[in-house]
Amino acid sequence: MEKTIKNIDKTVAKKIATGINGLDEMLLGGIPVGNQILIAGGPGAGKTLLSLEILYHNAKNGIPSSFIAFEETSDQLIINFKNAFPEFKDIDDLIKNKMIIIANQGPSTRSTEEGSDTNLYVFGNIILDIENTILSNNSKLVVIDSVSLLKLTMRNKTDYRRAMVLLISNMRRLNTTTLLTLELPSSERKDLKFTSEFFIFDGVIILYQIGQEEKRLLSMEIIKMRGTNHSLVFSPYEITSNGFKVFTMGGEF
Ligand SMILES: Nc1ncnc2c1ncn2[C@@H]1O[C@H](COP(=O)(O)OP(=O)(O)O)[C@@H](O)[C@H]1O
Ligand SMILES: [Mg+2]
Repeated sequence: MEKTIKNIDKTVAKKIATGINGLDEMLLGGIPVGNQILIAGGPGAGKTLLSLEILYHNAKNGIPSSFIAFEETSDQLIINFKNAFPEFKDIDDLIKNKMIIIANQGPSTRSTEEGSDTNLYVFGNIILDIENTILSNNSKLVVIDSVSLLKLTMRNKTDYRRAMVLLISNMRRLNTTTLLTLELPSSERKDLKFTSEFFIFDGVIILYQIGQEEKRLLSMEIIKMRGTNHSLVFSPYEITSNGFKVFTMGGEF
């Protein structure tokens, strides 16, 4: 869903619509093409489903894409997606036609001799695998789900930071628009801390879950998005059988 739209300050930016009800209004048409976006949130907030739904809508519109899965097998991912969104069962055709490539990837497939540590050399090989996947269908839109595992397996914070910078600069070189998910330790807005990964991305979207005894309330916020104006409103969302619905309160910014 690449399209050119005029944003509020009259500059013209090429954007890639997410296809998510409400989110494109918040983004004034979509994500600027070539942006590297972080989608962060607590466990179960919907990071995986949201990013796969964005790929699904775009692939249906002719944009080849890849989903790099660090945490779930491709089978599990597709089962979860179809269970959550029975109306999007034709994702199977998009996978068959290679409009969406789901690649399982993980430090475990390239582990060092001692076991769980991932060093930068090993990480370089992971990046090569990702690149090969992207080149195999000329992906324009890529999801990396998630970078949290990298954080856990890197030897120290410096290596982790270097790995993230390496990953982002490679994605920029490949000219893809990328969504990278990150697990936050807390789902509450008041606990949000801006750690190093927030600064290297072009955009940051946070999914929150507000603890309520009977029902948890889901809401999202765009913290930053280079190259476009965007909503600053804290917007509730629901995961429905035909996709995410973000409530934008009548276009309020
Ligand atoms: N069949 C379903 N119907 C409605 N909601 C679902 C369904 N399956 C999963 N969900 C919702 O999606 C959430 C999991 O989404 P997921 O994208 O895997 O989260 P994350 O990647 O942020 O951990 C669940 O916590 C649940 O709220
Ligand atoms: Mg997930």
